Amino acid sequence: MQTSLRTPGPLVIDIENITKEYVMGEEIIHALRGVTLQIRRNEYLAIMGPSGSGKSTLMNMLGCLDTPSSGRYEFNGKNVSDMDGDELADIRNREIGFVFQTFNLLPRSTSLRNVELPLIYAGISPEEREVRAAQALADVGLGDRLSHKPNELSGGQRQRVAVARALVNNPSIILADEPTGNLDSRTGEEIMALFESLYQKGNTVILVTHEPDIAAHARRNVHLRDGVIESDSLVERATVAVGALS
Ligand SMILES: Nc1ncnc2c1ncn2[C@@H]1O[C@H](COP(=O)(O)OP(=O)(O)OP(=O)(O)O)[C@@H](O)[C@H]1O
Ligand SMILES: [Mg+2]
Repeated sequence: MQTSLRTPGPLVIDIENITKEYVMGEEIIHALRGVTLQIRRNEYLAIMGPSGSGKSTLMNMLGCLDTPSSGRYEFNGKNVSDMDGDELADIRNREIGFVFQTFNLLPRSTSLRNVELPLIYAGISPEEREVRAAQALADVGLGDRLSHKPNELSGGQRQRVAVARALVNNPSIILADEPTGNLDSRTGEEIMALFESLYQKGNTVILVTHEPDIAAHARRNVHLRDGVIESDSLVERATVAVGALS
């Protein structure tokens, strides 16, 4: 089995007993009740669980979009709780590539401009931005769609633009919350083939899904229930599709 042959990479994510509470007037909602999770470089992990089990809350923590109420979170060996807003923004911009269910592309901008966006925040020169964005789009099979705007692309192509945008900064991890949620099953499989090829190239991919078919593409499945990890297991795979995009 492929998974057992790989030597474990360095720890990228190391969280211990994190909790998240939301206060809603009189009520306290325990979205996460003590989650401990370690993720190494070049893992491919799917987070599953019923609606309301805390998946998006956990993704927001992993992506440094939100901070835990208690517990420890180290990203690439650095304690996230010690970071100020600027440092957190820096990690989000440089180390994490986000892919959302609803693509979140700028509607009036071309594929190229959409993918350039993270590079603007990173202070890269216009010339280099264009070269890198065009390369990222070529990498997801959209080298011939640089000047198209989102409404001139298919759903699957829009999501590929979003994946190119997530990758353009060469992040440590790719976080995707229900990346196939708005796609039909065939187009969803196209996006999963893309994630597979990213994983094969050495990327670390973490996705949230409630669909077992989608989670089966990952190498490790973590199930959440009521804000705790119910199970954490390797996915049994007889064969691994290599170069699924070509
Ligand atoms: N900003 C918030 N304020 C208050 N409560 C929240 C907030 N965000 C999430 N919650 C609550 O925390 C719990 C976990 O929510 P979360 O969004 O993480 O679930 P989920 O597993 O992603 O669900 P889904 O599959 O429906 O997307 C839910 O009970 C939700 O109502
Ligand atoms: Mg959610």
